[in-house]
Amino acid sequence: MAIPKSFIEELVARSDIVEVVSDYVQLTKRSGSNMFGLCPFHSEKTPSFSVSPDKQIYHCFGCGKGGGVIGFIMEIENLPYRDAVAFLARRAGLEVPEDEKSPEERSRRARLLELNRRAARYFYSVLSTPRGAAAVEYINSRRLTPKTVKAFGIGAAPDEWTALSDAMCAEGFTESELLEAGLAKKGRNGGIYDVFRNRLVFPVIDVRGSVIGFSGRILGEGEPKYLNTPDTPVFTKSRNLFALNIAKRTKRGMLILAEGNVDVVMLHQAGFDCAVASLGTSLTAEQARLMSRYTKDVVIAYDSDAAGVKAAQRAIGLLEPAGLKVRVLKIPDAKDPDEFIKTKGPEAFELLLERSENQVDYRIDAVRARYDLETDDGRLGFLGEVTDLLASLPGAVEREIYSRKVAELIGVSPEAVQSEVRRAARRRASGERRRTEREAMRPEAAFQPRDRSLRYDNVASAAAEEGLIGYIMADPSLLRDTEDLSPEDFSSKYLGEIFRELRSRFSRHEDMSPGVILSTLGAEEAARLSAILQKPVSLGNAAGAIADYIDRIKTEGLKTGENRDLLAVRDKLKQKKGLGG
Ligand code: GTP
Ligand code: MN
Repeated sequence: MAIPKSFIEELVARSDIVEVVSDYVQLTKRSGSNMFGLCPFHSEKTPSFSVSPDKQIYHCFGCGKGGGVIGFIMEIENLPYRDAVAFLARRAGLEVPEDEKSPEERSRRARLLELNRRAARYFYSVLSTPRGAAAVEYINSRRLTPKTVKAFGIGAAPDEWTALSDAMCAEGFTESELLEAGLAKKGRNGGIYDVFRNRLVFPVIDVRGSVIGFSGRILGEGEPKYLNTPDTPVFTKSRNLFALNIAKRTKRGMLILAEGNVDVVMLHQAGFDCAVASLGTSLTAEQARLMSRYTKDVVIAYDSDAAGVKAAQRAIGLLEPAGLKVRVLKIPDAKDPDEFIKTKGPEAFELLLERSENQVDYRIDAVRARYDLETDDGRLGFLGEVTDLLASLPGAVEREIYSRKVAELIGVSPEAVQSEVRRAARRRASGERRRTEREAMRPEAAFQPRDRSLRYDNVASAAAEEGLIGYIMADPSLLRDTEDLSPEDFSSKYLGEIFRELRSRFSRHEDMSPGVILSTLGAEEAARLSAILQKPVSLGNAAGAIADYIDRIKTEGLKTGENRDLLAVRDKLKQKKGLGG
């Protein structure tokens, strides 16, 4: 019997590839967000075996092997798929279940998502009725604009016991569906009543655009301040982030992690469209990994109270291992980003962000705290680490100013520190050069799969197909822009099949993370795809790139066989147009 997909997803999510690989390979070097070590599958002296914590995949630039965590165990333990799954399950303390998710179950998920979408629409519609008056007043008091309210789909739950349930039943949903979606609870009299009553309601929307749950804030003071949808078949709090559906499209190149929903909404309203928050729980490793799929840089903007500072420390410990560069904002004279923006304005927050980029003092202090500057060893250790930091500063003037400070701290001459910094800068530069060289030497072209079906007949088209797949895997919602394309349009049957799989997973709201997709492929196929996933994508102009790829795939497709004549006609038409205009 097949192992259920959902279990494989859970297993992959709970088997961090860095940890698993580290049982066999010493990952010594870091390059970008990847970790490198000596490849266990071929003999080598310099590390070309890379593991990506954010994508949860491995890839060897030397021998071309690659895949997800299950593939790695199959390869290294020499196990068939099922046994590798059982192996990892034991390691993660999970039990392998027996049967496959039935079609009924799949359609049940679709029903629940539809119910959530209708519920969100209902809550939003309440705002323009008298039953939403209190919520509207609250929205105004928090100074949220109608545009913001609409963008987030914020709504109101009326102060009644069955307003939502009645409305949804009238739309054809059943009581048991309302219970299962976490929107209603069973009452003593056997009926059901609404979970969200007299609250401001924030829909939680996943990166694919599905409404998966809700977060309801009390209007004004009271307990509990927030009520969240419990975990349901379509909602797992620990794996989603509030507002990531919007923030993932930011052009700022970073994500801001805030504590509260209101902070996030206010940040967006003030132009910081990259803000997200964990959903009433403290940040989880899964959420950190989720963020790392969209950015390399995270700025923590938690509340400025002691709890916020502590939570930030905890968050750093989860974000950095996910390959993220983390900065922490200190928010002066305000309890949280929301209050700061209200009292000081968006420009002041922008300044805070910019300054955090260059919190050199802060970072020097952090290094200093790790060493005892009273001892020679401590001073040497500090100097070694701090010169790396100084060497990474972009400006010469900055490097000089801070070199002086450091010199003063440990009582040596500024010249001595400066010459150390220059040495560190040279080390950095040559490291960078080696990295580029290695990247230029990627065995893309040399890769010759034994499996004939993986060879490319049309390299130009295949390059576009690979590019397209890379983008979709980085952001599945881009599938919405590929409706004109069908798997048959692909010149590579293999890539066409991957496209088909991605599309069907997307339409069924199934997990599409690289580690999970790779777990469905054979070894050579996984190696090929892991190579594709090594190429960086820039989501800033994803739509344009997708359109170009599709155009190229279609044009190349026309060049084959019977279509050649069609293409000739098209060219002629183009020429004519060119002559005419
Ligand atoms: P405001 O007080 O309106 O500014 O709300 P906030 O969204 O900034 O919330 P706050 O800073 O108090 O809390 C941060 C986050 O913790 C909230 O967004 C919620 O996700 C969560 N949270 C706060 N209070 C509760 C609660 O009573 N229950 C649950 N489940 N989560 C809460
Ligand atoms: Mn707050």
